[in-house]
Amino acid sequence: MKIYAVKDYDAMSKKAAEILAAKLILKPNAVLGLATGSTPVGTYKNLIDMNSKGLIDFSQVKSVNLDEYVGLTGDHDQSYRYFMNTNLFDHVNIDKANTNVPSGIAADTAAECARYDKVIADMGGVDIQVLGIGNNGHIGFNEPDSVFTRGTHIVELTQGTRDANARFFASIDDVPTKAITMGVANIMFADTILLLASGEAKAQAVYDTVMGSITPNVPASILQLHKNVIIVADEAALKLIPASMKN
Ligand code: GLP
Repeated sequence: MKIYAVKDYDAMSKKAAEILAAKLILKPNAVLGLATGSTPVGTYKNLIDMNSKGLIDFSQVKSVNLDEYVGLTGDHDQSYRYFMNTNLFDHVNIDKANTNVPSGIAADTAAECARYDKVIADMGGVDIQVLGIGNNGHIGFNEPDSVFTRGTHIVELTQGTRDANARFFASIDDVPTKAITMGVANIMFADTILLLASGEAKAQAVYDTVMGSITPNVPASILQLHKNVIIVADEAALKLIPASMKN
């Protein structure tokens, strides 16, 4: 794991965008694995800025998102499809037909999970996967579990995750109880993983991810076994990590 320690959220966002831009320059038809949540918003702002200046081009890019709430349509303002459109896709020259978010409203959820795994496989896999991290070490919506999950699947969200995400909804009762998410194996098959973390609330999860035992109880800990993980995190999120491990 290569850990880039930066000062704050803005510096994290700039560095993460530079890493993604470097990928797009080297491979204009890259497959981007994208994440939602507050953490990558600044990264996407920087990418929009670079695209508007002609520094990066999304015309050949394909994307797959990690997850979606079950029960929300793509035009619901808290759906992850809506998030991606408003925070990135509407503002760059990506062809929306090349962007993929699992459907939260499929009648046949098993078929939707299988379809999504095929979408990823048909693209030839993900070149670089952006990840945020939940306070409990979840990645995508892979919550702490007794096993590491494989493909796209339906999850029951923990109360802690629903509480953490309630800030975006009118009330806790409006937060969906289930989600559809790429599995841990889907994530591990990406060529490069770019994990972002900001703020003290993530410090324990980052510590457990980097320094802890590899356990499905901390889903992100399996990233220790991936050959190409880049962590970009600010001082607060890295406060429990020894200085010798930071670049
Ligand atoms: C949600 C998403 C995750 C994200 C996490 C942290 O649970 N499914 O992909 O990493 O929230 O979100 P935030 O970046 O807002 O702290």
